[in-house]
Amino acid sequence: MEKWRIYVITVILGLCGARNSEGNQLSYNYYESSCPFLEDIVRKEMLTIFATDVSAPAAFLRLLFHDCQVQGCDASILLNSKDSEMKCSKNFGIRKLEAIARLKFILEVACPRQVSCADIIALAARDSVALSGGPLIQVPLGRKDSTTCNTQLADVHLPSTTIDVDGFLRIFMGKGMNLQESVAILGGHTLGAGHCINIVDRIYKPNPIDQMDPNYHLALKLGCPSKIPITNLTIIPNDITPSIFDNQYYREISLGKGLFSIDTTLSRDPRTVTIVNQFAADQDYFFEAFSSAFVKLSSANVLTGNMGEVRLQCDQVNR
Ligand code: HEM
Ligand SMILES: *[C@@H]1O[C@H](CO)[C@@H](O)[C@H](O)[C@H]1NC(C)=O
Repeated sequence: MEKWRIYVITVILGLCGARNSEGNQLSYNYYESSCPFLEDIVRKEMLTIFATDVSAPAAFLRLLFHDCQVQGCDASILLNSKDSEMKCSKNFGIRKLEAIARLKFILEVACPRQVSCADIIALAARDSVALSGGPLIQVPLGRKDSTTCNTQLADVHLPSTTIDVDGFLRIFMGKGMNLQESVAILGGHTLGAGHCINIVDRIYKPNPIDQMDPNYHLALKLGCPSKIPITNLTIIPNDITPSIFDNQYYREISLGKGLFSIDTTLSRDPRTVTIVNQFAADQDYFFEAFSSAFVKLSSANVLTGNMGEVRLQCDQVNR
């Protein structure tokens, strides 16, 4: 506990961009009376999950991003229907939905009908960062769950691996992030891994503006030896410390050793190269920028107040 750095986030609540007109917004004490032990319950369950699966924190962090990217952070990614977001190929590799369902079950016993699935996703992600050695981020709560999901919207809004820096900045600046925060949020790639299916295009048809380190290129070829992967079992780590939330990712991308094209191009673009180098040199600076970026990512375009609902089961809307 002591080793966790607590960053006080000075993002004013007004920036939290709730999309309703009643003035309902996220708050830092939303569950104070309705579910006072919420954060302890989530933390305890996360510790249990991480003890048996070191790759789980990465999965929860990516889950938050992919939830928030489509219709805002509203747990739409969890809905199981003929129009599920999970049917979108860009959600390939998304995991741990069953762990969120289990947390929801535990929380329905502790605080029935109070805690939204969207808030559970946000808390699971922030504990993933903290328990992997990253900053302990205070996140405002009070998100409601969507009553809809749409495969096609997921396809439109989830970024492709070939996105360029312009497209990248458009996404994150659109959530109110500045340049530092936008570069910091991709530091989520300090955790986890990618499958060959997402890397082979880049390995076998390199883009000239995406200058990979030649030895790293060779290592990727060895890891993913055929243009069309013969299995989906091989994964390549995002950096050499894939289960530690640190600034190693920035050191590697600045050397041309980024797993995806956007990782490397971010370290070459004149707008972002200085920030990449600063994060590579100063982990505290990265943690601070990541913390405020995380609050913006997880607060953009949320449902609050009487918009949406608190689902009773995360994979289906209430009847
Ligand atoms: C333009 C933006 C982004 C692109 C193109 C992108 C792309 C990808 C791809 C292709 C994968 C590999 C999936 C697989 O093969 O299994 C991945 C993994 C991952 N991404 Fe991103 N990503 C982006 C932004 C983000 C952001 C903002 C975060 C979180 C803050 C994030 C967190 C992660 C994590 C933690 C993993 C590892 C997942 C695991 O190991 O299960 N990404 N990303
Ligand atoms: C790997 O997963 C992708 C996406 O789900 C699928 O299209 C492909 O057929 C799979 N490949 C193998 C060899 O299973």
